[in-house]
This record gives sequence, structure tokens and C-alpha cells, in this order.
Amino acid sequence: MEERLQQVVEQAGPEISSVGSYIFNGSGKRVRPTLFLLAAYDSNARLVHYVDAAVALELIHTASLLHDDVIDQAPTRRNKDTVHARWGNKVSILTGDYLLSEAFKILVGYQEWPLMDVIVNMVKSMTEGEIEQTFATADSSELEERYFNWIGKKSASFFAGCCRVGKMLGGGDSKEQNHWEEFGYNLGMTFQLIDDLLDYTGKGEKTGKPIYGDLHNRVITLPLIRSMKHASENKGTFPKQLHHEGSSSHFSEMVQAVLESDGPEYTYKKAQEYINLAEKAVDQMVTLNPKVKAALKDLSAEVLNRKQ
Ligand code: FPP
Ligand code: MG
Repeated sequence: MEERLQQVVEQAGPEISSVGSYIFNGSGKRVRPTLFLLAAYDSNARLVHYVDAAVALELIHTASLLHDDVIDQAPTRRNKDTVHARWGNKVSILTGDYLLSEAFKILVGYQEWPLMDVIVNMVKSMTEGEIEQTFATADSSELEERYFNWIGKKSASFFAGCCRVGKMLGGGDSKEQNHWEEFGYNLGMTFQLIDDLLDYTGKGEKTGKPIYGDLHNRVITLPLIRSMKHASENKGTFPKQLHHEGSSSHFSEMVQAVLESDGPEYTYKKAQEYINLAEKAVDQMVTLNPKVKAALKDLSAEVLNRKQ
């Protein structure tokens, strides 16, 4: 898969090729294609047939990050400058568009309409989730409920889609596809909850992203939502600070308020709840290959306890 990724990058023109090799150069967890390949696996299958689809999924993921880093104006990712920081917004957006088109070109090659249907809906859902998050403000009603809805769309739907298309191409029936999709969705929810938690409690050198980046960009996530609830029940000042134009002077106070609230602990608890649901979905997969089952359990534990 890594070799095919390199080929996609090398086949592009020199401009995209230089940006592409910068992005794919040895970094990234490759969680989504791994999930896809695990779902597609059975001991008789020729996995080589699925490598291109795995590449396409990684390309879609990378395209979404190239756009997301412009939206969030993130300075670093995977311990290096983001593409927009190095080449500018235009290059980041256009490279994302190119990778997305390349992914669709690869996927169309399978000539499987049900597969395309899942992929198209997945990308649509990611976009909806991202825009719902962008529109959310600190005083939006039902903020926690909205948060779970938008992370479901922007992150968990991708994990769910990778699992479903893997099982589809691997020849599973609709019941098996549903169990895999359920596993992927719940794993994806855990992944995003931990991502949002690490933004407050992680170490920049491990996550490869600046700490408190979400708060800095006014991206509202569960640790903050929970601490705002806590503050409004006590003093009622936190949401106002978040909206205040010159609120950078309040930045460290806000960080402190989040860290002193039960926001981080509550977020981890929710992540544990979703991983339990993911594990329940695995237990429902009655014909699952024992090696794949062990890999899913390991992956679940890794996603829940990851530091990077
Ligand atoms: C990272 O979230 C971003 C996502 C999970 C999805 C982004 C989706 C889009 C931009 C829309 C779909 C676009 C395409 C091209 C398919 P985050 O900001 O919480 O995580 P981060 O800390 O890693 O940036
Ligand atoms: Mg981001």
C-alpha cells in the first residue's frame, strides 16, 4: 500500500508530486486503510486486489486533512509544518481536491456501485459534520448532543465506511457488513473523543500538533463543552469569555478552567463507553477469523489509550 501511495504521488505533475511526497513521507497512522483491509481479509482472499481501495481511502483521509488544516489554520501536523503553512491555502485546498479526485478514479475502477454509494455518502457526511462544527457557537443549545452528532458525521462515518466497504468487497453478507460498520462507527467515535482530549492533555511532541489548538481556534469540543457547563452552573462567565473578541488574554484562564473541570475525565469516560460498544460489535461477528479478532481488540485498546 505504501508503494502504491508513492506511485500515485510520483505519477502526478511536479507540483503535486513535491507536495505529495512531503505529506506521505513515512508519517500517519494509516488506521483507516488498516481497518478496511482487516474487514476485507479472509484466509482465502487475495488482499492484493484490495490494495488500491486501501490507497484510495488514505487519499480521501489526506484530502480531508489538507482542507481541515486550512479551516482550522493549524500550523503543524505530524510534527511538521502543515501544507498551507508551507505553501499557502491555495496549494493545500487544490492538492486536497486532486487527491480526492484520484481516490474516486481508483474506486470507480472497481465498477461496484454499492461501494461507490457508501463512499459518496461517507464524504458527504464528513463535510456535513465539519460544517456543523464550524457553525456551532458556545451558546448553541444542546451543545453536547450536537457535538456527538457532528463528530459522528465528520470522523466516525469514515471509520464505519472503511469497515463496510471492506466487508462488501471481501464478500460478507449484509448482517456481517452491519456488524463491521457498527464496530467502525464506535471505534471512530472513540478516536475523535481521544483526539479532542489529547488537544488538552496530550504532549505536542507526541501528537505532532500544537497543544490547545482547538481552543486557540475556537473549535468547540467535549472537554470545553463540559467545563462551560460546569462554569455556567457555578459562575456563568466562561461562555462570555469564549466569545469575547480580545479573549486571548483569557486564554490561560480558559485552559485552566477546562483542565480543572471534569471535562477531560468525562471525555475519556465517553471514549470508554464507545470502545465497549465497538467490542460488543466484534463479539457479534460469529464467523470472524481469530487473528482478525485479536487485531481488532488490539486496535481498540490502541485507539483508546493512544498518546499520539
Ligand atoms: C479533522 O478533525 C478532520 C476531519 C475528521 C474531517 C474533515 C472533513 C472535511 C474537511 C470535509 C470533507 C473533505 C474532503 C476533501 C473529503 P479535527 O480538526 O478535529 O482533527 P485534527 O486535530 O487532526 O485537525
Ligand atoms: Mg483540525
